[in-house]
Amino acid sequence: MSRAALILALAAAPALAEPDAQALERLVKQDCGSCHGLTLRGGLGPDIRAQALGHYEAEGLMSVILDGVPGTAMPPWRPLLSEAEAAWIADYLLNGESE
Ligand code: HEC
Repeated sequence: MSRAALILALAAAPALAEPDAQALERLVKQDCGSCHGLTLRGGLGPDIRAQALGHYEAEGLMSVILDGVPGTAMPPWRPLLSEAEAAWIADYLLNGESE
């Protein structure tokens, strides 16, 4: 592999990597938790535990995470999270042990 190709391959690697479950779990607890409460039961933002999100499909949840809720304190996470990471978080909130 040429040096240029190697650099390109390395640069592309993070985007192709599987979402880092541990880092994302930490982000949900710390960053999402700063508004939604440490146990996600609600604070400034509403309860986002699985039982409170029954009206969401994973896709709708993913777009709330990526684009936020305009006009509210819920920020868009698109600058910080890839779609795969947002999908991971949506699945984690709906099916994971977010308690
Ligand atoms: C700066 C505070 C803040 C942060 C940080 C934050 N949220 Fe929110 N979030 C809110 C607020 C406020 C709302 C309610 C918006 C509204 O009035 O509809 C909300 C709404 C939501 C909703 C919709 C809930 C519903 O029942 O409709 C979801 C899902 C959500 N947030 C997930 C997240 C996730 C996941 C993260 C972390 C990646 C996060 N939020 C980080 C403030 C925040």
